[in-house]
Amino acid sequence: MSDSQNPSRRKVHEVVIAGLTTAIGGALAVPAGHYLLVPPKSGSKEEWTEVADLDQISKSGPEELVFRRKRKDGWKILNEKTSAWVQRVSDKEVIAFAPACTHLGCAYHWEDGTKTFVCPCHTSAFSPQGEVLTGPAPRPLDRYETKIEDGKLLLGRIVRSEEHS
Ligand code: FES
Repeated sequence: MSDSQNPSRRKVHEVVIAGLTTAIGGALAVPAGHYLLVPPKSGSKEEWTEVADLDQISKSGPEELVFRRKRKDGWKILNEKTSAWVQRVSDKEVIAFAPACTHLGCAYHWEDGTKTFVCPCHTSAFSPQGEVLTGPAPRPLDRYETKIEDGKLLLGRIVRSEEHS
């Protein structure tokens, strides 16, 4: 006997199909509703990253520290390799420069002989405090937010140089 000849069996199939359709629709509606109704976090949010023991940072001159950090960008969490030029000012203060030149973003380096940061791309030079000595870099080096906890140096987000006072 086919379904068309047995109304109760046909009814069971209709109820099962309606139930599955509702379940699938509900399963898709929850994440879709979250995506549409909950806005992503604006911009990107870096977390504090422990990069070194304070005692290991030399007082004699800037040194480059390479580290990995997690960065939240919208819904994504990025785990990226980056670096900082770190200079210990005192037992309680460290300056940490972002690794990109403020002209067009090349990686610069420290020259011990001239006591300057030099960018190889267009020869901008910066003082140990990150101020522009020769252009074309239009502004000082950007800095990481820094804090010291339990003898460890932690770096936060990068602050554009116009923003620090
Ligand atoms: S990118 Fe550094 S001087 Fe141009």
